[in-house]
Amino acid sequence: MICLGIETSCDETSVAFVEDAVKIKANLISSQVEIHSEYGGVVPEIASRKHLENINILIDQALQQSAISWNQVNLISVTKGPGLVGALLVGAAAAKSLAAALNLPLVGVNHLVAHVYANFLEHSELEFPFIALVVSGGHTCLVKMREHFSWETLGTTRDDAAGEAFDKVARILSLGYPGGPIIDKLAAKGDPKKIRFPRSYLESNSLDFSFSGLKTAVMNAQKRGEFKNFSIEDTAASFQEAVVDPLVEKTKRAISNTGIKQVLLAGGVACNTRLREKLKQASQELNFSLYYPSPKFCTDNAAMIACAASFLYQKGVQEELTMDVIPQLEGFLS
Ligand code: KG4
Ligand code: ZN
Repeated sequence: MICLGIETSCDETSVAFVEDAVKIKANLISSQVEIHSEYGGVVPEIASRKHLENINILIDQALQQSAISWNQVNLISVTKGPGLVGALLVGAAAAKSLAAALNLPLVGVNHLVAHVYANFLEHSELEFPFIALVVSGGHTCLVKMREHFSWETLGTTRDDAAGEAFDKVARILSLGYPGGPIIDKLAAKGDPKKIRFPRSYLESNSLDFSFSGLKTAVMNAQKRGEFKNFSIEDTAASFQEAVVDPLVEKTKRAISNTGIKQVLLAGGVACNTRLREKLKQASQELNFSLYYPSPKFCTDNAAMIACAASFLYQKGVQEELTMDVIPQLEGFLS
């Protein structure tokens, strides 16, 4: 079964063809990062316009790269939310048009769910149940997955997402956009113990996250000129450690609360070197298996959309051509 995936929820236009849910035939990504970095963040209007310019070109290129023709395609899928409304609409319009013209079934995918499914692209042997730690630019949550599309949210962020904290702090420190990869790179040469930033663990039994206090602490320290005595590498490493520590601690709590011994890491922040390192350490200490996608499948891509859509379709899920995008799509609904 060959599925076309389309992803346009934020600032990456991506188109993929995936066979039997996990075999990637093409996964093309056109990033707008350079355009948005001029403004220090994503400009929604520009994002939609760029998706519109790129989408048909990418679909043609992906078809060519996969060496398939339309009559071999069985399923059309697209991100239906969460994301920027104008950006989502471009992908949805392309997907609905193709589904109508080719008379193919259409599946709308929750972007967060798809981030978790990126793990299946490289670890098709995975067996339920799992704990998933989803850390992206817009969301941070811990989820228990009992079987395909059967979820229980264990914890979520009460304010900023982890990726948002990286991006905002990079902005406060005038490091550029997106902040995560820049801070990750600088931190590799810094000492994480140099500055003691606050970590928010919330109540002793809570699996929720909170990063806005940390962001405010960095902002106030910057205003007071406190970082002048430290290298930018040490500042980056110390900040990164304060994001990573609660993520690791809450994952450990989720494991001891549930007894589940497998953890999937997902979303853009799953690229983070220190997070991977500390979770690996934790996995040895607590004896659990840790899985994460390669960096190119951690950040936004259409292969993960097609993968999740293929599993959804197997469960009988399908959309009408009247499908709407849901910019505020909450939680782990399909
Ligand atoms: O999942 P994603 O591509 O888009 C959303 O769905 O939000 O995640 C983007 C986020 C950005 O906040 C970016 O700064 C962060 O992932 N990110 C990282 C790293 N690479 C990307 N954060 C920390 N370390 C990284 N290496
Ligand atoms: Zn994403």
